[in-house]
Amino acid sequence: IKRITVPDIRARKGNEPVVCLTGYHAHTARYIDPYVDVILVGDSLGMVMYGMETTLGVTLDMMIAHGSAVVRGTERALVVVDMPFGSYEESPEVAFRNAVRVIKETGCTAVKLEGGKRLAPTIRYLNERGIPVMAHIGLTPQSIQVMGGFKTQGRVEEEWAAIEEDARAVAEAGAFAVVLEGIAEPLAAKITGQIDVPTIGIGASAACDGQILVLEDMLGLSPRAPKFVKEFATLGAQIAGAAEAYAREVRARTFPAAEHTYGMKKVK
Ligand code: KIV
Ligand code: NA
Repeated sequence: IKRITVPDIRARKGNEPVVCLTGYHAHTARYIDPYVDVILVGDSLGMVMYGMETTLGVTLDMMIAHGSAVVRGTERALVVVDMPFGSYEESPEVAFRNAVRVIKETGCTAVKLEGGKRLAPTIRYLNERGIPVMAHIGLTPQSIQVMGGFKTQGRVEEEWAAIEEDARAVAEAGAFAVVLEGIAEPLAAKITGQIDVPTIGIGASAACDGQILVLEDMLGLSPRAPKFVKEFATLGAQIAGAAEAYAREVRARTFPAAEHTYGMKKVK
């Protein structure tokens, strides 16, 4: 199987929806690989996998470890790895150096950066040097301390112009897709009509060209999933049920049974 390419994703604009999920680990990525176009190794792993309060503590080494696992576990989906806080903001040169590590050490196809207009020169610099970039605008969790919390963007019209400008700037700089996070529907629709690369929505309505959710959120593994999440499974409850059944059987000594037990080899 040939992996989905960056031009394949770009060509979806105006045609077919781009289906994306996050992935942090090899085996779960293997299960979703046949059904999705893009697997994003998101820095949300800091919160979901490591119990951090924000994504600010995530390191390049963590992203590389999980990115490698997802690339090894998949063969079809295009794998994008998030650049963590502090690894790309300083300059295009620093961003390039760190993105090269991500590409070389994980084997992923592209990286994602949070930010709009201010990052356009960096997106252009990376793209011109062989590193495809997915942009991410609207609610950008790495800026949580500046924003003062996770807040949906564009619910008042005064906020629109700046966000529209961000979308245009990253698209013109060569981003192959743009994540719109936490954006009111009318603005998401307007931006989707204004740029010529796919918009990937999360909490940004069905008006986007594609959708992404955090895998654990849509599987029902997150204790406090936000309004925009639909739980397509309830694995949290299943895990609790399985642990309870296991504990019961171990205590009753009914597990392991004969079929789980090794005897001696027959020797002549
Ligand atoms: O880190 C992440 O999971 C993300 C997506 C939710 C877009 O950036
Ligand atoms: Na992220």
